[in-house]
Amino acid sequence: MPAVIIVGTQWGDEGKGKIVDYCSKDADFVIRYQGGTNAGHTIVLGEKVFKLRLVPSGVFYGCRVLIGSGVVIDPEVLLKEINDLTSNGVDVNLVVSGKAHVILPYHPILDGSWDKVRGKGKIGTTKRGIGPTYTDKVARRGIRVYDLVNNTYKERVRLNVKLVNRILQHVLQVDHRLDVKEILKQCSRWGVDLQSYVGNVSEIINRALEEKQNVLFEGAQATFLDIDHGTYPFVTSSNPIAGGACVGAGVGPTRIDKVLGVCKAYTTRVGEGPFPTELDDDVGFHLRDIGREFGTVTGRPRRCGWLDLNMIRYARMVNGLTSLALTKLDVLNGLERLMICVGYRWRGSNITSLSIHDMESCEPIYVELEGWETIFNGDEICSEAKAYIAKIEEETGLPIDYISTGPKRVDTICRRSVW
Ligand code: IMP
Repeated sequence: MPAVIIVGTQWGDEGKGKIVDYCSKDADFVIRYQGGTNAGHTIVLGEKVFKLRLVPSGVFYGCRVLIGSGVVIDPEVLLKEINDLTSNGVDVNLVVSGKAHVILPYHPILDGSWDKVRGKGKIGTTKRGIGPTYTDKVARRGIRVYDLVNNTYKERVRLNVKLVNRILQHVLQVDHRLDVKEILKQCSRWGVDLQSYVGNVSEIINRALEEKQNVLFEGAQATFLDIDHGTYPFVTSSNPIAGGACVGAGVGPTRIDKVLGVCKAYTTRVGEGPFPTELDDDVGFHLRDIGREFGTVTGRPRRCGWLDLNMIRYARMVNGLTSLALTKLDVLNGLERLMICVGYRWRGSNITSLSIHDMESCEPIYVELEGWETIFNGDEICSEAKAYIAKIEEETGLPIDYISTGPKRVDTICRRSVW
C-alpha cells in the first residue's frame, strides 16, 4: 500500500496525465503538489477528451482528489473545471488546501509584462501568472485560499493592487490600471464558491498513509523546469521534482515508497532555453506532427528532438527515481533510423553527467538504432522497439514499468505495477 510520486523527467509534456490516470485506477487518493494552470493534462475517455489544469486526473476513477498547498490556484479556472466535470457526470470528490496561494487578476498581467521587458532573454512563460504568484508567496504578501473563505484578504489586496498599479505605470510602462473594487468583488465570490472544497490536505494525506491507503502524488511540469534543479532561468517557479511533493503536500520524505519518472520516447520543450538534441529538420517536424506536439495550455508548437538519456540520468539522481514509464513510443513509428543521446561533448571532453551549468554548450553524443514501421508484430513488441527500450534501461539503470503506445487507456503495457 505505497505512496508513489509521479514526476516528469524532461521539460514537461511527457504524457504524465495519461500515466497518472492509468495508475489512479488502483489509487485511493491522488494529490497535485505544485504548479498551477500552466499545466495541462489531456485525458481521452472513449469519445470524450478532457483537458485538466488543476483537478488531479484521478477524479475519473472516483478517487479522493486533493490540491496541496504547493499549488497556485486560479479560482476562476478551478471552479469552471469542477463545473465542466460535474456537468459531464463526473463525481468530483475534491479537497483544496487552504494554504494554497491564489492567482489574482494582476498576476497574469505582471507575468506577460515582465517577460516582455526581458526582451531577447525572455522565458516564454505560459502567462498564467505562475511566477508572480509564487513571488508574492515568498515575499509574504500573497493571498491564500484560507484568506478567501475567511474574508481576511481585503487590506492585503488593496495594498497589492496599489503596488501593482505603480509597477505597471512606472516600471513596466503598461497602460493597464487595475480596479480594486472589481478584484475584491471577485475574491468575495470565490470565497463563497470554494468554501465547501477547503480542508486540511496535509492531515488528510498523512491519515491516509497511516491507514495504508494507496496515495499518488501527481507532479506537473518536470525536472528540467524545476526552479532549483532545472535549466534556470528558463524554468517554472515551483519544484516539480519529487522533493517538491513532500513540501507541497505536507508529508515527510520517509513516507514515500516509490518515484516513477515519466519519460517520453523523444524530447520536447516549449518556451526558451537550451535543448542539446533539438532537431530543426524533417524528423523534428515529423515528431511534432505525429506526436501532436502543441501546448495544451497555450497551443504553442513544441520544439522537438531525440531522446536524451543524459537528462534522464540526471532526473534519476535529483528525484531518486525507482522506475520509468515510457510514453509516446508509437510516435517513432515509420522512422528508419533512431538516435539516442547517451552523453555530451563539452569543452573537448566526453561527459555522462550534468554537473555543469551551461547545457547550452553541450553537443550530444548519439548511438544509432534501427527504427520500425509499427511497434507491434502481432501481439509482441517488434525486436527494434525492444532494443530501443532495452537501451534506455541499460543507460539509465532504471526498469521501465509502463510503456504507452497510443493516447487511449488500452494503449498501455504494464510490465510491473507501482502498487
Ligand atoms: P511558467 O510556468 O508559465 O512561468 O513558464 C515557465 C517555463 O515553463 C516556460 O518555458 C513554459 O513554457 C514552461 N512550462 C510551464 N508549464 C509547462 C508545462 O506544463 N509543460 C511544458 N512546459 C511548461
